[in-house]
Amino acid sequence: MSFPHSSRTPGPESLIPPTRTRKRYATRVYIIALVAAIGGFLFGYDTGVISGALLFLKRDFALTNFQQELAVSSVLVGSLTGALVGGRLSDWLGRRKALIGMGLLFALGALLTASASNFSLFLLWRVVLGFAIGVSSFLAPMYIAETAPPALRGGLVAFDQLLITAGIAISYWVDLAFVNAGMGWRPMLAVAAIPGMGLLIGMLFLTETPRWLAKQGRWQEAEQALTHLSVPERREEMVAIREAVRDTQHVTLSEFARSGMILALVAGIGLAVFQQLVGINTVIYYAPTIFGFAGFSSASVAILATSVVGVVNFLTTLVSVLIIDRVGRRPLLLGGLVGMFVALVLMGSIFALGTSHTGYLVLGALLLYIIAFAIGMGPVFWLMSSEIFPTSFRARGASITTFFNWSTNLLISITFLSLAAHLGLPVTFWLYAGFCVLAFLFCWFIIPETKGRNLEEIERFWKQGRRWN
Ligand code: BGC
Repeated sequence: MSFPHSSRTPGPESLIPPTRTRKRYATRVYIIALVAAIGGFLFGYDTGVISGALLFLKRDFALTNFQQELAVSSVLVGSLTGALVGGRLSDWLGRRKALIGMGLLFALGALLTASASNFSLFLLWRVVLGFAIGVSSFLAPMYIAETAPPALRGGLVAFDQLLITAGIAISYWVDLAFVNAGMGWRPMLAVAAIPGMGLLIGMLFLTETPRWLAKQGRWQEAEQALTHLSVPERREEMVAIREAVRDTQHVTLSEFARSGMILALVAGIGLAVFQQLVGINTVIYYAPTIFGFAGFSSASVAILATSVVGVVNFLTTLVSVLIIDRVGRRPLLLGGLVGMFVALVLMGSIFALGTSHTGYLVLGALLLYIIAFAIGMGPVFWLMSSEIFPTSFRARGASITTFFNWSTNLLISITFLSLAAHLGLPVTFWLYAGFCVLAFLFCWFIIPETKGRNLEEIERFWKQGRRWN
């Protein structure tokens, strides 16, 4: 693990042997990323868990098809709202306090949903949970980005995506375990209270981000936070933060547009929309259904195949986290989109041809698809939406891109079954393949390589009309 080297004159902190300072810093940033990324884990768990829980909800509340769709999408409605107001919330409360609040909401929401006595209450608590998911889906990576050093930021923020995929994978296996134990949907939802409490308690021990404190004019506390984080190049960091905050102190949304930052917003929104248009959540929420279409007639085999997809999603994201700061964002993004395009064309063709081995071929194509998503688009979108905006606009910018992400997610999730019924599965998958082509062109022309750049350099890049210094 390497850190950028400092060229400044030695200060008092240089009396500490540099390697020890750096080791302590590295340990801290990993612990911090781990705690904040519990928010990501809960995002994954609470969205993934519904696929298995639905079978039992349907039985217990005698749900119609439309009510089942409501059960799935209620959480997305909450997430949209969370993404919309979360930016202001975290600007007002601070990143840390907002995350503490979300931990509480996750824990309460899990217990209340699990004990809902009727379907209306169930929906209400799912919306509340969705709110916590929406807020923490951008706040957790943002908290990490604001506390991580440039050299490690990519991997550390992508760590949040890793925990999202861990949450999804674990929710599938938990579903399977409770299905086998014949215990129904309530415990599936209730166990999420444990990581919720973990987020709450963990965040109590962490510091507010230096960048947020500086933005509030609390310079001394910002310096203390850098000390608490054991940042080795504390002075350079402070200078960079001062510059960034001074340049953007009184910027309003319209000034944001005028100062050239609108391109950053376009980049973020484009990534957000394309991350969903390529159809990822048709797989995450509907994989058992797709396997059913492909001829896996037993529900448990379909759920088992889904669980394998969940594990592959997690393992590939792990690889991405390990290589993203070395390989860079663009190669992973563009390479991943090519892989997704090939997988979707294959998937459509398999359904169009209807061979006798459709089930296994679809499993193969789905695995290729999930690998290609998890190596690029999955982690890169969340990483970029937390690193392409200047400090003053980071919360609002990330909240806008996250809002677009959840809106497009909702659009794709509630239209998949109807599209499949009206256009047929092959055309539906080819449609998503078409979106991969558009996404590729968008990324090729708009998305910069931010590997190894500090947040302030990235800010200048946009302000100077997309030019690095
Ligand atoms: C997406 C989610 C998706 C997950 C799958 C995330 O990056 O935002 O919508 O369910 O990846 O791993």
